[in-house]
Amino acid sequence: PETIIVKDFAEKLGREVGEVIKKLLMGGIMATINQEIDFETASLIADEFGVTVTQEAPPEDPTEIEEIVDAPETLKVRPPVVTIMGHVDHGKTSLLDAIRQTNVTSHEAGGITQHIGAYQVRYNGKKITFMDTPGHEAFTAMRARGAQVTDIAVLVVAADDGVMPQTVESINHAKSAGVPIIVAINKIDKESANPEHVMQQLTEYGLISEEWGGDTIMVPVSAHKKIGLDDLLENILVLAEVSELKANPNRPAQGVVIEAKLDKGRGPVASVLIQKGTLHVGDTIIVGPCFGKVRAMNNERGERVKKAEPSIPVEILGLNDVPEAGDILDVTDEKTARSVAEKRMEKKRSSALHVNAKVTLDDLFNQI
Ligand code: GTP
Ligand code: MG
Repeated sequence: PETIIVKDFAEKLGREVGEVIKKLLMGGIMATINQEIDFETASLIADEFGVTVTQEAPPEDPTEIEEIVDAPETLKVRPPVVTIMGHVDHGKTSLLDAIRQTNVTSHEAGGITQHIGAYQVRYNGKKITFMDTPGHEAFTAMRARGAQVTDIAVLVVAADDGVMPQTVESINHAKSAGVPIIVAINKIDKESANPEHVMQQLTEYGLISEEWGGDTIMVPVSAHKKIGLDDLLENILVLAEVSELKANPNRPAQGVVIEAKLDKGRGPVASVLIQKGTLHVGDTIIVGPCFGKVRAMNNERGERVKKAEPSIPVEILGLNDVPEAGDILDVTDEKTARSVAEKRMEKKRSSALHVNAKVTLDDLFNQI
């Protein structure tokens, strides 16, 4: 509310009403015990009593889960979440595969690798989470729902092809999301490779390499010949450290859906990147308009895990329905999960209805 009644205000301050009325008078405001005063006036008077007031939160939105505010001292360093972006065929998948092979497959041999849209690499004792989804989806679908997933964007540009339309698109996505870019100039093993030309082209988009006096890290790599991978990983870790990426692991989990599907045998399956808190098997969750209890969790190697901390991607089972990429996961109690999920479903249905109505109308016009 924008206003408060003098009597209630005095009570909140823990002061006599008379004292408050006197202070108001001194400020040139004639007010009675039952009069309403506005927030600005109230905060000025409160100041005089040495009290800082904050405005009450707006009425609760039944489709929202109350946000937990983490005190600075609860925050711990978490691994960076990195998205690989770039033009078609410039070598995004090859680069991810190369990084993965040199770093994780050794102790993964024989394990069945599951596709969960993200995976972790351990390098120099530190973890890095790579988003395995096409870079554009990671940005568009997720950001459309207000979820920021990526900490660092690795822009892959083929040294023999140079800057192309999707290279520019990727730069724009990363920039508008405020995500720092590391450039990987790929395919330097090729005869026709011209890394300098790529660097030259990138200056037109405000990306100037450190070598040339700018502040963008550019690493020449070859996914095929496994050149420059250490350099790239080291730079990712340095940038992560500078960015001071932190989260509170000791609170109810919050995360974002990377991808989800209906599995014949297992029911709804959602790959989720945990962003805050720790998710445990048995937790009651709400994920977009879906809810349930975490029945089981798998990491990207298909191994069962009991908990997942910030920046960890996991596959979760136990939801009542299939959520969408970008939907937010929250841990809450069962009653809240049920009722909020229901409200969200209603909202989703009614907006779908609107869309349909509009389409029908347009169709009608088109037929006339
Ligand atoms: P999309 O997913 O289709 O956008 O492509 P991508 O960016 O994932 O590229 P991908 O890894 O599929 O590689 C495209 C082609 O480039 C393939 O034929 C790769 O073998 C080749 N390629 C990738 N990296 C290198 C490299 O370092 N050197 C050479 N010579 N070829 C490469
Ligand atoms: Mg690919």
